[in-house]
Amino acid sequence: MELHPHTEALGGLIGTWRGRGHGSYPTIDDFDYADEWVFSHSGKPFVGFVQRTRMNDEPRHTESGYLRSPGPGLLEIVAALPTGQAESGTGSFRVEDDQTLVLSTDATVTNTPSAKTVARIVRSFRLRGDRLDVETFMDAVGQGLTRHLVAALERVPSP
Ligand code: HEM
Repeated sequence: MELHPHTEALGGLIGTWRGRGHGSYPTIDDFDYADEWVFSHSGKPFVGFVQRTRMNDEPRHTESGYLRSPGPGLLEIVAALPTGQAESGTGSFRVEDDQTLVLSTDATVTNTPSAKTVARIVRSFRLRGDRLDVETFMDAVGQGLTRHLVAALERVPSP
């Protein structure tokens, strides 16, 4: 199935990506994790994603959402996090040096009553060939915008 014309430039993302990530934040100890992202599309002007992580071989953070494209080069993100956050924001994508697809999003966050408070999530995805680099910054628990995650993934060949 062909991608919607608005999301055509995101075609390289579609599929499964696996790799390793490193996490940090001023309020917690650093940690490493196994990371998996699955991006999919249905011909509509959005790309769906599901992230699953593991630490010490146990399931940890997971999330799912959509990268919507309301127009050429424009991006919106909507995502749900089991830690009690709903993320909604805007972004953009562009191709750098003819070979690197760069996506970035900047979102405000609604928190459930018992969740730790996250005010803002800023993400970047850099896709070059079969390598995907993902970075996540957050303004959480009053710390200001600070990096929480950095991960390097490789495309899992489709069977
Ligand atoms: C946008 C996505 C994410 C958000 C908004 C988020 C948010 C947070 C927040 C608010 C905290 C608490 C900080 C504190 O207690 O001061 C935290 C801690 C933590 N996060 Fe994330 N996180 C995200 C993704 C991830 C991912 C992908 C992992 C990978 C395993 C992860 C692993 C952890 C760990 C291990 C801690 C510290 C221990 C704990 O509270 O469980 N987070 N995160």
